[in-house]
Amino acid sequence: MTVTPSSFPDHPAQAFNLVPFAQEHLTGAQRLSQEAGWPHRGEDWALNLSVSEGVVALIDNEVVGTALCTNFGDVAALNMIIVDARMRGQGLGARLMAWIIACAGARELRLVATVDGQPLYAKLGFVETGRIVQHQGEARAAAPHQPVWDGCAQDRAALAAMDMNASGMSRAALIGKIIEHGQILKTDGGFALLRDFGRGRVLGPVVARDVAGARALIAEAATRCAGTFLRIDLPEQVGLAGCVEDLGLTHVGGGTAMVCAARMQNDRNFTTYGLVSQALG
Ligand SMILES: CC(C)(COP(=O)(O)OP(=O)(O)OC[C@H]1O[C@@H](n2cnc3c(N)ncnc32)[C@H](O)[C@@H]1OP(=O)(O)O)[C@@H](O)C(=O)NCCC(=O)NCCS
Repeated sequence: MTVTPSSFPDHPAQAFNLVPFAQEHLTGAQRLSQEAGWPHRGEDWALNLSVSEGVVALIDNEVVGTALCTNFGDVAALNMIIVDARMRGQGLGARLMAWIIACAGARELRLVATVDGQPLYAKLGFVETGRIVQHQGEARAAAPHQPVWDGCAQDRAALAAMDMNASGMSRAALIGKIIEHGQILKTDGGFALLRDFGRGRVLGPVVARDVAGARALIAEAATRCAGTFLRIDLPEQVGLAGCVEDLGLTHVGGGTAMVCAARMQNDRNFTTYGLVSQALG
């Protein structure tokens, strides 16, 4: 697809192409996310791309737009939707969305919207389902109120089953990739994954049967990260903001969870207390 932008000061009267997102676009994609104020390292982009398909907009081989679709069973997470600031307001965001919505097929579509993105998604039929609150900072140690221990790679299927029950997303492949380099924290009736991300480390997903399990996992992660940067993205309705504030993780922003073509979900025995990321839910 080729489009002529009406204004792009550095490249007047040139066309952009929409092409499938490939490894060679990662550096340009990271430049866009940095300019948008997002903390993703090359490795963070590479993890998302490794479980996704997507699109980039190019002008003279420069990446000026990105979007990924990550299919997790019956649910697609739409993510990393960014248009170069020089190109906004000309319909490029809508074209990127059309591409990745086609990648999702008949799946339920989920995303976490920024203030910039929300009007576009609302026009496409997405509706709000809740708020995501982003907390981060220098973690403080705390004693978990129930035992927490390390998991191992053989736990992958069991972790994926708990995560699927909580989220409705089939994410065994993603969990497998995260635990190649990250840590698995387990407690009675729950688990959490701790990995390098952005400015330090991120805890997510945090999946547990009850809030006591989630609190124990979060306290253990804060202890392991004490004195260093830790981030967690919480669904606001789980009510753990006060708990993570006490661990040194202050509220710095967040987003709006949105869904389109929602499907019925089976009964849940587990709850998602922390996201893998705003991108991947
Ligand atoms: C969100 C973003 C991708 C939109 O890209 P864009 O190319 O400017 O969007 P479009 O020009 O295709 O706009 C599509 C529609 O949404 C509307 N829209 C887009 N941004 C809007 C805004 N900030 N306020 C109101 N309406 C907006 C447009 O008016 C347009 O509607 P129309 O087709 O009826 O005219 C872009 O603003 C961006 O990259 N922001 C920074 C990164 C970010 O926050 N991404 C979203 C992550 S969830």
